[in-house]
Amino acid sequence: MYEACTTCGERFIPQYAYQVATLASAPGEAPRRQFFCQLSCRRAALGEVSHAVRRARRIAILNQKGGTGKTTTAINLAAGLAERGFETLLIDTDAQGNVGASLGVKGERSLYHVLVEGTEPAEVAVPVRGRLDVITADATLAAAEVWLARRDQDRDRVLSQRMGISHRRYQYVILDCAPSLSLLNQNALTYAEEVLIPVSCDYLSLVGVKQVLKTLKDIERHLGHSVRIAGVLPTFFDSRIRLAREALETLRGHFREKLLEPIRRSTRLAEAPSHRQSIFEYDGDSPGAEDYRRVVDRITGKESAPLSTSRESSPQTMEPASIE
Ligand SMILES: Nc1ncnc2c1ncn2[C@@H]1O[C@H](COP(=O)(O)OP(=O)(O)O)[C@@H](O)[C@H]1O
Ligand SMILES: [Mg+2]
Repeated sequence: MYEACTTCGERFIPQYAYQVATLASAPGEAPRRQFFCQLSCRRAALGEVSHAVRRARRIAILNQKGGTGKTTTAINLAAGLAERGFETLLIDTDAQGNVGASLGVKGERSLYHVLVEGTEPAEVAVPVRGRLDVITADATLAAAEVWLARRDQDRDRVLSQRMGISHRRYQYVILDCAPSLSLLNQNALTYAEEVLIPVSCDYLSLVGVKQVLKTLKDIERHLGHSVRIAGVLPTFFDSRIRLAREALETLRGHFREKLLEPIRRSTRLAEAPSHRQSIFEYDGDSPGAEDYRRVVDRITGKESAPLSTSRESSPQTMEPASIE
C-alpha cells in the first residue's frame, strides 16, 4: 500500500522498519503514524533523537552444537518480547537463514549487506510483526565469513561497528547464532552483552555447554569484553526419559540459579515454522507456548513494556512488500 512521505510527500511502499514511526506529538495525544521514504527524510523530521533514547539489551542465543533449539528459542523469545510491547530486533547470524524462513520473510537485503557493504541496519531490517523487526541471513553469509577472515584488524568487531547506535531504536536485540566457532559468532558475541544458552537434555549437549563456557572465557581474555550469562535453557525435555531428568540435574548442579525451567519436547514447536508462525500465533495454549512465555517472563523479570507516548513502533497491520 502506498503512503506519502511525511517529509517530502513522495508516494512509496514502506518496506523497512525505519520508514515507519508511530509517534504522539504531545503527551496524552493518540500516536500518529508517520512515513519516511528515505533515511534523510526521517532524519529531517525526527533528527537523531528518535534513535538515541534507548539502550537495548542485546542477547545472543548461542551453543556451538546444532539442533539444541537455538533458532526456536530466538524466534519465540523475540516474538514473545514483541507481544509484551517491547520493540525487538531479531538478527539471524546463521547462513542457513532459518529465521526468515520460519517467520515467512525474505529480506531483499540481509546481514551480509550490513557487514560487508556497510548498509545501514535500519535499511535492512524488515518489520515482520507489530514491534518485531528482523535482519535476515542467507547463504551469502558464508562469503561474509570469508570477507571477515581476510581483514587485518577488528575482524571480530565488525558487527558492533556496523550496528553503531541503531539498536537504540529497540529495547531488545536477539541474535540467533550458528552452531560453530565462526568469526560470525565471535562478532555476535562481541556485540552482545548477554548470552542465553539452549541445551538439549542429552549427554552430548552438555559437552556443548562446556564449549560455550570456554568460548565466553576466550572472548573475555582476547577481547576484554565480558558477556553475562542470561541463562541456560534446557530444551527437548521429556520427563519420562531418565537421561533427560539426569541431564537436568547435572545442569542444575552446574548453573544453579542461572538454569531456566526446561522447554518440553513438543511437536507444536516443531510444526510452527512450517506455518510461518511463532508458537504464540500457531498454538498459544500449547506446552511450548507456555514454556516460552516463562522464558520471556524470566528475561524481562515479568515486566511489560512501559506505555510511552513517544514510542516508535512498526504497525501491526503493515504488510511489507518483501514478505513472501
Ligand atoms: N522443544 C522442542 N520440541 C520439539 N521440537 C523442537 C523443540 N525445539 C526445537 N524443535 C525442533 O527441532 C529442530 C532443531 O531446532 P532448532 O531451533 O532449529 O535448533 P538449532 O537452531 O539449535 O539448530 C527444529 O526442527 C525445531 O523445530
Ligand atoms: Mg539454528
